Amino acid sequence: MENDERNTTAAGQAERLRQLEYIRSVRKINDAYAAETGKKRKFYSLAMGCQMNGHDSEKLEGMLTEMGYEQTQTETEADFIIYNTCCIRENAELKVYGKLGALKHYKETQNPNAVIALCGCMTQQPTVLETLRKKYPHVDIVFGTFNLYKLPELTLTRMESGETVYDIWQEQKEIVEDVPSLRGHAYKASVNIMYGCDNFCSYCIVPYVRGRERSRTPEDILAEVRKLAADGVKEIMLLGQNVNSYGKKLEKPATFAGLLRQINEVEGIERVRFMTSHPKDLSDELIQAMAECDKVCKYLHLPVQSGSSEILRRMNRRYTRESYLELVRKVRAAMPGITLSTDIIVGFPGETEEDFQETLDVIRQARYSTAFTFLYSPRTGTPAAEMENQIPEDIAKERFNRMLDVLNPIVHEVHEEQVGNILEVFVEKISRQDSGIVSGRADNNMLVHFPGASECIGQTIPVRIVENKTFYLIGERV
Ligand code: 5AD
Ligand code: SF4
Repeated sequence: MENDERNTTAAGQAERLRQLEYIRSVRKINDAYAAETGKKRKFYSLAMGCQMNGHDSEKLEGMLTEMGYEQTQTETEADFIIYNTCCIRENAELKVYGKLGALKHYKETQNPNAVIALCGCMTQQPTVLETLRKKYPHVDIVFGTFNLYKLPELTLTRMESGETVYDIWQEQKEIVEDVPSLRGHAYKASVNIMYGCDNFCSYCIVPYVRGRERSRTPEDILAEVRKLAADGVKEIMLLGQNVNSYGKKLEKPATFAGLLRQINEVEGIERVRFMTSHPKDLSDELIQAMAECDKVCKYLHLPVQSGSSEILRRMNRRYTRESYLELVRKVRAAMPGITLSTDIIVGFPGETEEDFQETLDVIRQARYSTAFTFLYSPRTGTPAAEMENQIPEDIAKERFNRMLDVLNPIVHEVHEEQVGNILEVFVEKISRQDSGIVSGRADNNMLVHFPGASECIGQTIPVRIVENKTFYLIGERV
């Protein structure tokens, strides 16, 4: 088996071996428990937030499995419950507190020995730690985004001491790669190409909870992709907060365009996707690489956030309405038929009706196939939370609804253009509603449902589109 670890640091490797030892120790305890009681301990894992968190949870789940726990989808039969939290908006945090409240009851009434663990972005904030200590003392293990790989050690400490274990770092020490991972899908996988973010958009908490930007070397990334391909993976999602600035700070600088070209050559990989791209760094070189690499999907997530140059300036986005629209034009010229998606925030401090109209205008011009739309949520510690002219919620909500009235018909029209076309659909799963239907994504990222069975999973199948359901398409095999 190929395992190119030349580029992971010696300290990172030593740390990885140490954690593998802890995994063995916990496993012994859990195996003894299973031998004595006749049942294995179970874990329940929930990832909140973005794909980065989802991918981190695959690692947590891999480590828990190696430690001798069995995964359950029923929270109320678990002996180990782990939430990988998000803090991008207040709602995400409120949801966690609500769930922790319910777990208190579960522990008191059903399973006093259940271990509750919390990690991820939310726990990187000192105010959250204070709240946890005061109001949620039934949470047993708390760690953060920089020391995810320490779960085995923290679990053993908790088992041996019975005490609450808090371990939060404020910055990255070693980067520990190649921890056990439980992939959610057999045929598609995510690969981190970088961690953290240096952009400091004025509304965003991410740079504070995920630290400075750090890229992995192309050699490390390629070794991981090759290993996944050997394991049957056909679709790769490259993950980073800002993939377009990939590699700039490496000892041997690399570019994202160069990386894409290398990954495009890996045998066995059929599709490559990536997110997220920041418009300020989307180079001509990258557009060209996307256009030339046959495996790179012709779909681009390009968050605009706002269509007003003045709001963009105060968001610290470092592009204007005009330069964004120019980018859209360039991307479409280089790759006719490409689909675009975006993120939009409504109700940023100081947003006027005119600013909002400019956002609507960008939506009309860019013609997105999907958009992720958010009400602005002030995050403590970010500059925007301190700005004057916070927008009252009723105005923001009213704008939000008006935005959907503009956006949804466009999404419908963009999907309608596909009716009658044949799309190559990479099948991911059986539909939850109907076992005779499978669903997957076209190269352009549109979701397609069509009649099929489990043999289709992992295959790329030509499908004629027969019906448009606005947010997805219905097709039939040709
Ligand atoms: N309020 C609302 N939306 C936000 N996002 C990031 N921070 C905030 C915030 N404070 C949105 C942005 C980003 C997406 C992941 O979440 O649109 O692109
Ligand atoms: Fe992802 Fe940001 Fe949420 Fe963290 S805070 S999980 S980086 S969206």
